[in-house]
Amino acid sequence: MTTRYINLDELPVAAEILKSGGICAIPTETVYGLAADAFNPGAVAAVFEAKGRPADNPLIVHINSRDMLPQLAAEIPPVAEKLADLFWPGPLTMIFRKTRAVPDIVTAGLPTVAVRMPGDPVAREIIRLCGKPLAAPSANRSGLPSPTSARAVAEDMDGRIDGIVGGGECSVGVESTVLNVTVTPPRLLRPGGITPEMLEAAAGKIEIDKAVFSKLEAGETAASPGMKYRHYAPRARLALVEGKPADYINFVNENGGDGVFALCFDEDLPFIKIPAVSYGGRSEPATAARRLFSALRELDERKCVRGYAASPGRDGIAMAVYNRLIRACAFEVIKV
Ligand code: TXA
Ligand code: MG
Repeated sequence: MTTRYINLDELPVAAEILKSGGICAIPTETVYGLAADAFNPGAVAAVFEAKGRPADNPLIVHINSRDMLPQLAAEIPPVAEKLADLFWPGPLTMIFRKTRAVPDIVTAGLPTVAVRMPGDPVAREIIRLCGKPLAAPSANRSGLPSPTSARAVAEDMDGRIDGIVGGGECSVGVESTVLNVTVTPPRLLRPGGITPEMLEAAAGKIEIDKAVFSKLEAGETAASPGMKYRHYAPRARLALVEGKPADYINFVNENGGDGVFALCFDEDLPFIKIPAVSYGGRSEPATAARRLFSALRELDERKCVRGYAASPGRDGIAMAVYNRLIRACAFEVIKV
């Protein structure tokens, strides 16, 4: 298959591909998504196939207006109305009880459906031109870091999908917050750009699912199936190094070697004597969110075999960064 590269002035081309059952990568403010008509099970199957995604991991359905929600959600709790008023369009996905119209392949057979209205006007315009909700997981090969640029999508997907819309770098850089609003209190399944602090200020107490911070034990069921896999991982074996910045710097300087890299913060770079890739400012977690996935891809490009990652905080958007990084490290933590 030849993948068509689509510019921002050719969005109707992307809409035509999607309306005729094709699959196309589109920019969003979080990460690039690999979109298909959510009501076309064949097109959705092609998304699973192109990504190599396990069939038990459901997709998020994207809408461009609140009018589309009743086609998907059988029930819209008041808390969801309130959160949608405040945070849509934006990086918040909510889990609803699904209508019968949503094909089972989209939700991996679950009775619920994940829905979000992206903040990126390009994504919303493509949905508007299609006139239908679009199911879209992140546009990476399953297990690899999510793509935050059209170039990163092309690395994984060239020749496997019908089109890629080039929309520049993603402004948030980590995937949306996933919140289950079918339970009381609402339950955070994946942290993202809309932080727990923001959700609680708007909706009162929320619960944070155990899988956000820790590995599920064998036999435990994942509330969000995507949280159970090794994920966001470059080819290199990474470990998260927890400790004070000075102790992190000493640790990496003492543990260099062939193919060993530091995945550090900008502030650390002047002091690190081994090859290093920075993923943002230690005190600016929004930059770490924006740069984490491209930094992981850079480690692969530079043939990193072993990487030591400086640990981010866990407050605000840093929680999302920590959640992705600990999975990229397959939960290996070194305390210094
Ligand atoms: O920012 C984002 O959310 C990006 C852009 C493209 O919108 N999409 C994205 O999709 O990250 P994906 O497929 O990579 O991650 C979707 C996550 C998975 O962890 C999946 O298990 C969870 O959402 N999910 C989807 N439907 C669900 C459901 N009904 N119940 C629980 N979790 C669900
Ligand atoms: Mg993904």
